Amino acid sequence: MVDSLLAGKSALITGAAQGIGAAIAQLFAAQGAKVVVADINEDGGKETAATITKGGGKAQFVRADVTSAADLEAAVRATVAAYGRLDVAINNAGIEEQGGAPLHELTEETWDRLVSVNLKGVWLSMKAEITQMLAQGGGTIVNMASIAGMVGLPLGIADYSAAKGGVVALTRTAAIEYVKQSIRINAVCPGVVRTALLDQAIKAGMFTEAEAATLHPTGVLINPEDIAHTFLYLASDVSKHVTGHALPVDAGMAAG
Ligand SMILES: NC(=O)c1ccc[n+]([C@@H]2O[C@H](COP(=O)([O-])OP(=O)(O)OC[C@H]3O[C@@H](n4cnc5c(N)ncnc54)[C@H](O)[C@@H]3O)[C@@H](O)[C@H]2O)c1
Repeated sequence: MVDSLLAGKSALITGAAQGIGAAIAQLFAAQGAKVVVADINEDGGKETAATITKGGGKAQFVRADVTSAADLEAAVRATVAAYGRLDVAINNAGIEEQGGAPLHELTEETWDRLVSVNLKGVWLSMKAEITQMLAQGGGTIVNMASIAGMVGLPLGIADYSAAKGGVVALTRTAAIEYVKQSIRINAVCPGVVRTALLDQAIKAGMFTEAEAATLHPTGVLINPEDIAHTFLYLASDVSKHVTGHALPVDAGMAAG
């Protein structure tokens, strides 16, 4: 049971070319899932899928931009064509603007781009996934939010925080809308995780790695694999009575 929490399940994971999404894809495949890696980064996406298949798992790459409804519908169709159904959908793709800026200095252009990927992208993903899940009689969705969507952080990321707070609200609403159709929908709200997104923020001068770690009461940064395990919990039947939650994995940030 513990070694195969997703045995026989099919899973579509957006933003799985690298970072947390790639860690989720690898963990899910190791737990028996047949995986579709969806991303705009073709080289990285193919590499994630190849790593899984080389290790004896099942995976394929589909190019999908989460700002495109047509791409997402095609990704869902590809999952069903390959594996027969869509049991699990992980809506992880997301971006951070270079450097951040105080709210009054944010431009409409950066706001629109960020909200389009990080919030509208999750809605468009769920729209395509839920259509399939309704047709097949159920499924499980886990959305990527952030602790920045739950608490105020003085980091010049008002657009990012608003989008992630929107993901939390979208998750709760969708969970209630589809609870009677056997579709469970939850979100994960990570603290600061070691990925390219974090490197980008450090390079842009938002904070040093040591300063980023002090955002956590533990003083320790989180690894992508640690976040992946929370997605595994919410995606698998172990959490069968859990829906509509936004679960912080934030080393105590929201508790302080
Ligand atoms: N790293 C952190 O500290 C942290 C904390 C909380 C939440 N998150 C969230 O976790 C998610 C993954 O972030 P990460 O840290 O692994 O970053 P990352 O940059 O390493 O990975 C993000 C992935 O999303 C893909 N992507 C970007 N735009 C896309 C689009 N329009 N369509 C499809 N794919 C797209 C990228 O190509 C990349 O593979 C994001 O939603 C991010 O906001 C990250």
